[in-house]
This record gives sequence, structure tokens and C-alpha cells, in this order.
Amino acid sequence: MDKITPCIAIHGGAGTIEKSTLTPELHDMYTHALNQCIQAGYRILQQGGSAIDAVTTSVTALENEPLFNAGKGAVFTHSGGHEMDASIMDGSNLMAGGVTCVRNIKNPIMLARTVMEKSGFVLLSSDGAEEFAKLNNIAFEPNEYFDTDTRYQQWQKIKDSEFMQLDHNVNLKKGTVGAVALDQYGNLAAATSTGGMTNKRYNRIGDTPIVGIGTYANNNTCAISCTGHGEYFIRSVVAYDVSCLMEYKGLSLQEACELVVNDKLVKLGGEGGLIAIDHLGNIELPFNSEGMYRASQKVGGERFIAIH
Ligand code: GLY
Repeated sequence: MDKITPCIAIHGGAGTIEKSTLTPELHDMYTHALNQCIQAGYRILQQGGSAIDAVTTSVTALENEPLFNAGKGAVFTHSGGHEMDASIMDGSNLMAGGVTCVRNIKNPIMLARTVMEKSGFVLLSSDGAEEFAKLNNIAFEPNEYFDTDTRYQQWQKIKDSEFMQLDHNVNLKKGTVGAVALDQYGNLAAATSTGGMTNKRYNRIGDTPIVGIGTYANNNTCAISCTGHGEYFIRSVVAYDVSCLMEYKGLSLQEACELVVNDKLVKLGGEGGLIAIDHLGNIELPFNSEGMYRASQKVGGERFIAIH
């Protein structure tokens, strides 16, 4: 059997990232942030660590970076708070965990992982998820920790309307973060985290916490983390669709991603993208929007970072 080259890919959201408004300073800030966040997971793979640890570590770093809409820097809800969603999946055993509508959780991806490992459930929500977090010593932060001025300004513009805004399409603050990885043992993993949509209400839930839609990993096929307009991604069952096209139709990762992102989603009107790695270490980063904050690297190889 050929030696496996571990690899990792991350995203910081996809959407209308206008080149004209992306100043060189902002471009540098995003590039630096992507570099730091992929480095965190890459180091684990380089030292022989697992794919599940690599994606957890990179997504935690992305959540801690206020430029991105997840963890610190999550968008404002209609009532002025922050409600976050996250999920994680281990392709080696198809174990998965997710949380939705959680408040004050510093790193929702850590809570999703704890759900996967310790709860016996797959998806916990709101008060119950927070109760579970307390029992498991997950870090909490006050509401102000998650506030950022840009998110506040975005919310001010639409807070008195019925309108909900996908953060990906507001100026330069893009939504949802994620990571996928293949480790030296041939195991795949995927993780995704988000603050969702600005001004969201009624406990609106997007694709991110739903296993098979925003996140999926299976050692037989691929690992996927999505970013985009959640309602369309849910209706398209995006992540599992890519895996199914590989498993049942024999498509390559590249063919499956192309069909789902640039054909099926586009026909439905769903804007966004995904990051994907297959069991052979092929990497795909497709998007049908103007841009997607993204980075990838194979162990020992060159690091790729791009926005448009
Ligand atoms: N893709 C994130 C969301 O729609 O909530």
C-alpha cells in the first residue's frame, strides 16, 4: 500500500467578497489569519497526530479569530445576542457530534466534539447543550466576548426589519469556518462552526450543525465542510451528496464537488462552497460565489492560501 501523505484544508467562509473593498491591509489580515489557523492543525498532522485532532485544533483557532463569523466575532441575532452552531465527524468510525443555538460557549467545536465523545447523542441544542457543557467543564464567556464592532454595525443596519442577512454577503466579514483533514493512518475528519445569519430569530438553524449537510466524513470516501446559504445547503444535503456520488456512482472527488457546488446548488440558487479531502489525499476547494477564504497543505508540501 502506498504511504499516505497527511493533508489539511480550512475555510473562513464564502460569499460576495468584492475585490474593490478588500484593501491590501484587509487582504493581509485575512491571509495572516488563515495562515495561523491552518498552521495549528497542520502541526498536529506533521507530528503524526490524528485528523480529528487536527480539524478540532484548526477550527478552534478560527473560532478564536474575530475576523471570522464563529466563536469570537459571531454575528448578532435579532435580540442582540449570539447563537452558534457547530458539528464534527470522525470518518474512521462515523461518530459525530453537533450543537445548535448555543450561547456563551467560547469554542462550540469543543462542545460538539464532547457531544460526540461523551453524550451518547449526536445533536444537542440551546439550554440542554449548555447544561451538558457545564457538566463537562467546557469554557464559557460573557456575551460581550463575542461582540465585535463590525458585526454590531451589520446588525444595526437590519435589526428593525424582518430581514435576515447571510453574513457572507455583508462587506468583508464572512461567515462559517471549517476544516477537513486526512492523517497518516488514512483517517478522515471534518469540522464546521458558525454564528449563522445576522438578525436571525426563531432559533433559526442553518446547515452547519447538521451531520451530512454542513459536515461529513467517511474513510471510504471523503471529508467535507461547507460554507454558504444554509437553507439551500440543507435542501441539497450537500456534504453527504458529495460522498454518495463517490460511493454509489464512482465519481472522483473533483467530479462530485463540481456537480454539487457548480451545478446542483447553482440551479437551486444556493450560494457558497465547500472544502473536501478524499481518502487518497486529493483536495478540492470549490465555490460558486465571488470568493471563499481558504487554505490547504499536504505535509511536506507548499501551503496554498487564497480568497478569490
Ligand atoms: N452556513 C451557515 C448558515 O447558513 O448558518
